[in-house]
Amino acid sequence: LARGTLAADLTGRHVVVSAGGTREALDPVRFLGNRSSGRQGYALAATAVARGARVTLVSANVALPAPAGADVIPVTSAVEMREAVLAAAADADAVVMAAAVADFRPDTKAAGKIKKTGGPPPTITLVENPDILAELSRNRPRKDQVIVGFAAETENAVAYGRDKLQRKGCDLIVVNQVGEGIAFGTPDNEAVVLDRDGRAVEIPRGPKENLADRVWDLVVERLGSVSK
Ligand code: CTP
Ligand code: CA
Repeated sequence: LARGTLAADLTGRHVVVSAGGTREALDPVRFLGNRSSGRQGYALAATAVARGARVTLVSANVALPAPAGADVIPVTSAVEMREAVLAAAADADAVVMAAAVADFRPDTKAAGKIKKTGGPPPTITLVENPDILAELSRNRPRKDQVIVGFAAETENAVAYGRDKLQRKGCDLIVVNQVGEGIAFGTPDNEAVVLDRDGRAVEIPRGPKENLADRVWDLVVERLGSVSK
């Protein structure tokens, strides 16, 4: 199954990848959502399978075929994604949070469809969602578990990325410059991967599978560097 010259360097490893974008319900037929296509997360899952890993793909609202060989867990909201990711992460060697998780959700889901009343429009009150990446990083089941975040930034990408890496407590953060027709909904991506040791690795613009393979290279490097 390995493609080209790729080593099966994830053989015997369990990796968890989250993908897509969460939907936060307003009522039975409406939600707050985002534009994530899930392509980068699906590319991460497919490349990990190709490199020999057992892959759990926690997938939120993605219109893509399931990657062959991955165990797909469908979820809708951030709260559901948290449950699924934390459960799968318990015995994982690495967790990659490629999903766009909604920062906020409506504080209540209306039991029935919200109707026009002729009065003023309703006000939607939001509450903050749990930060899955921060929680994963805080409560690692093993000190050698590798945790990877993603950050899409429109400006000062590296500076914001460094700050985010610190705040979340993850090992690696894949920082995307968004805009100019790159990243969201496109087959290509480019990024800078920052690690907690202060290193920055640039990944030039190319297919999302390419970026995925470079991310796994960096994960494998870290898996090998911490003694069990
Ligand atoms: N993330 C998460 N749980 C959340 C929000 C984000 O696990 N509730 C993860 C994302 O999957 C991503 C990383 O955190 O891997 C960074 O997401 P991002 O939205 O860039 O970070 P935030 O801390 O939400 O900061 P911002 O205010 O820039 O949105
Ligand atoms: Ca966010």
